[in-house]
Formats: sequence, C-alpha cells, structure tokens
Amino acid sequence: MTTPTRQNLWQELFAHSQQIRTLNMRDLFRHETGRASRYSIEWSQLLIDYSKNIITDETLELLMSLARATELDSAISDMLRGDRINVSEDRAVLHTALRCPADSVIMFAGENVIDDVQAQLRKIKTFVNAVHSGSFRGWTDKPLTTFVNIGIGGSDLGPKLAVDALKRYRQPNTRSFFISNLDYEQIQQVTSRIDPETTLFIVSSKSFGTLETRTNAESLLAWMKAAGCNAIDRHFIAISSNYDAVVEFGIAEDNIFSTWDWVGGRFSLWSATGMPVALALGFQHFEKLLSGAHEMDRHFAEQDFEQNIPVILALLDVWYNNFFDADTHAFIPYDESLRLLPDFLSQLLMESNGKSTTRDNSLIDYHTVPISWGSSGTNAQHAFFQLLHQGTRMVPVDFLAAMTKPGDQQHQDLLIANCIAQSQALMQGEKSSSPHNYFPGNKPSNTLFYSELSPENLGKLLALYEHRTFVQGVLWNINSFDQWGRELGEKLATSVYEAMQNGNMADTFDSSTANLTNYYLNKRQP
Ligand code: F6P
Repeated sequence: MTTPTRQNLWQELFAHSQQIRTLNMRDLFRHETGRASRYSIEWSQLLIDYSKNIITDETLELLMSLARATELDSAISDMLRGDRINVSEDRAVLHTALRCPADSVIMFAGENVIDDVQAQLRKIKTFVNAVHSGSFRGWTDKPLTTFVNIGIGGSDLGPKLAVDALKRYRQPNTRSFFISNLDYEQIQQVTSRIDPETTLFIVSSKSFGTLETRTNAESLLAWMKAAGCNAIDRHFIAISSNYDAVVEFGIAEDNIFSTWDWVGGRFSLWSATGMPVALALGFQHFEKLLSGAHEMDRHFAEQDFEQNIPVILALLDVWYNNFFDADTHAFIPYDESLRLLPDFLSQLLMESNGKSTTRDNSLIDYHTVPISWGSSGTNAQHAFFQLLHQGTRMVPVDFLAAMTKPGDQQHQDLLIANCIAQSQALMQGEKSSSPHNYFPGNKPSNTLFYSELSPENLGKLLALYEHRTFVQGVLWNINSFDQWGRELGEKLATSVYEAMQNGNMADTFDSSTANLTNYYLNKRQP
C-alpha cells in the first residue's frame, strides 16, 4: 500500500476541495430536492443522514476511488480472516469472531477460534446464571448482588458504557460500580457504598500487568480480607489472557475467564471483558449486544462501499481531516443513556489512530485522527456549541438520538427537536448585518438515528464505530491496533516513583522534573 498523499487521487481530492469551498450547503439543499434521501442510509433500525456535509456526487466518487486505491476491500477481508494485520505486535485482529454465530468457522493457527469463543461464552453464561440464581454465593452465604469491575482503558470504558446505556434492562436488585483510576478516592467512594459480603469483584486486565488495575485489585483484596472475608474465591474473578499472572495474584483457576492475544483492549467488550454487562443485564441481553454487532459486521463485510455505513463515515472523516484541516470531531448523543459514548470513542479513535508512522514503520507527513471529544446534548448546547456555530474552527459533528425512549413524550419531542435543529443551524447559518449575530453556517454533521437503545442497536452502533476506526486507519495507512504511545510516560513514572521513595533524583531528570518531585516530597503530608 502506498502512502495516501503520494496517490494521484489525493491530489485530485485536494483540487476538488479547493473548488468546493466556494459552495455552500445551504445552496446545495436549495437546488437538490432529493439531497437528504440521496445521502441517507436506512438500515436495520438505523438511519444515517450524511447529507449535511460539504460534498457533491463528485466528492463521493473521488472518495470511493480513494477507498479502492487503498485496497480497502482486501484490508477488510484480511482482518476478518485473521491475518496478522497488527504488524508491530505481530497479532491478528479478530474481535469480530467474538460475535459470530456458533456454527461459524474462522481458522487461526490451525484451529477454529469459534470453538474457543463459544466455550468461553458457555462458561460466562454458567457463571452469570449461578450468581443470579444464588447458587454462587459470598463467604457468609449471602447472594452476590453488587458487581465491581476493576480495569482501565478498554477493560473499563466499553463495559461501563454498555451497563450505563442499557440500565433499563438491569437485573432487579443488583448494582454495578467501576474502579479504574489510580486515585484512591475512587476506591473510597465505592467501598463506602458496598457491602463486602454481597460484592463480587471482576479484575479485568488482558495483560494483568497494568499498574492501575494491579494496584487497585491489591487494595481491594486487602479491604476484603480486613472485612473478614475468608473465601476470596467467592468474591474475586479475573478476565485476562495472562493466566499465570492471575494465578500468581491469587485468583482461583476456576474463576479465570480468558481473552485472547487477537483481541485488542479497546475492541474487547465482546469477550469476557463484557462480564460486567452480562452480570448487570443477564446473559441473554449480552448475547443480543453481540448479535447486533455481528449484524453490523455483515453489513460492513458485504455491502458495496457506496452503501456501506462505516466506509462512508470514515471517508468523510478523512475529507475534513486532510482537506479542510478540521482538527477535532465532536460526538453529541441526544440520549442520556449514551452519555459515556464520547469517552469510549475518545479511546477507540485516538488510541487506535493517533499515530505518526505508516504500517511499514515510516514517518508520515499528513494528519491522522482528529481529537475526538463530545458530551450529551442538550447540556453541550449550553457549554461549547457557541464555538461550533461561531468559532473560527471547523468541527464536524456526529449527532445521535433514539426515536423511542421510555419516559415523558414531551421531553423526548423537545430533545429530538433540539438535535435536529442544531444540525440545521450548523448547516444553514443565518445572515445578519451585525457580525455578532452572523452565523456562517456550512458546518458539517452526520445524524445517526436508532429506533430505541436496545442491546442489539447498541451493538450495531459500537461495531459501526469500530469499523469506521479501522477504515480510517487503512486510508491513512496506519496500524490501528497497537498503542506504543502510552509506554514512555509509564516507564518514566517508574523512575519518578523510585526517586520519591529514595529521595535521589535520577541524573536523567531535567530541572523541572527534579523540582516538581522535590516540591511534592516537601509539601506532601502523609
Ligand atoms: O492504555 C493502553 C491499554 O493497553 C489499552 O489499550 C487497554 O485497554 C488498557 O491499557 C488496559 O490494558 P489491560 O487490559 O491489559 O489492563
């Protein structure tokens, strides 16, 4: 695969972007009566309207040609087949196998991985049912009704989002908590609200070497022992691909649920990492989440690029990022149930595609993923929408909303009216002779509507964003599945911590690092 900017098409897209700058979406809508339906896709309880983008048919043709020139179709097949596309870690990328039907066949290293996946799903189901039925109980013989996940990054954000988003499906009389931060305050907040006798801890770490998760798990293990727990195996389970480290930590072998080398942390919700979801909602709802994601996988694998939702959205991302210099993208759910989606997407998009090297390890000279951020509508309207409407930067937006939601119909109608009106205002703007009342408009957005936030629809939406992330990576010729960028800070934290323990600043410390460390040592009051 060649560097995208070296392709003729890249130059053609650049020339086209210069021409299209003179067009305004307001005029495009005025002249093209069928624009909204031409640039919308209705599929399996979702509607994706991408008509409020600065595009014409010619733009889409050029972008589709770019997708073909980057050999996107074979990149998709390579991933789904289990090729080792995570080249820097020499790993396959098979999270899609986690949501395949039981009779599927995906051969990897001489074995059908679906057999392993199904065996783990059966183990999760048996365990979850035992907890819910009360046959698996705590050390004082009380049923376990509080579930505390200890994990960080992909071992936290996905399950936390799904449990929060689908809370109306919750098992009665159960509660869930998530501990991720190294800050002990989070442990204090949770332990002050839970009963050790009825709490199950899920230590979720693919590597089982992550500082935050190890430290938090050790502290909570000590807290349980101090509370009198004499049967840790009734209260601690682990999700990991590092079996030996879990056993060494002291978690019973029967309580270990496996994940695999070929599942990246931020793509792992569908594995045993989703245990908090199955515990909170019941295994049947976890299965529905998986089947929704699988439906999106089929769409992604089989649909022509012209009708392929993740492909179209990723091409539009490249359009603004590389040809309009948009340096951020906002995600605004008009659905309180998706309030944690922006956090999840921050990791998914930026840890995957915040890269400066190509797949063959050369430095690149074009921008990769924009800063991905957001917050719930309508709160966001009263916080930062000023910038979206009248700021000096272009910020493409994804609006998301449910068509049906339990609760109050007037609230829902007002909420959705605001969602629709914001994309309208961003697109059309408003003329005024007074500059502070002038809205330039021509600001792009996508609108993603779903019938209701069911487990299936959440699965479809999250899989859509996963595939969009992957397509971006292919278009930018980067490996979306490694994360070397987080290592340096962690390594240096070890030497700063050592300096704090022995009071000697390392020779390698610059004066600021040494001063800050000394200042902390002098000021802290243990
Ligand atoms: O932050 C980097 C990262 O490796 C993520 O990709 C991952 O989700 C997280 O740390 C947690 O890793 P682990 O599950 O191995 O504890």
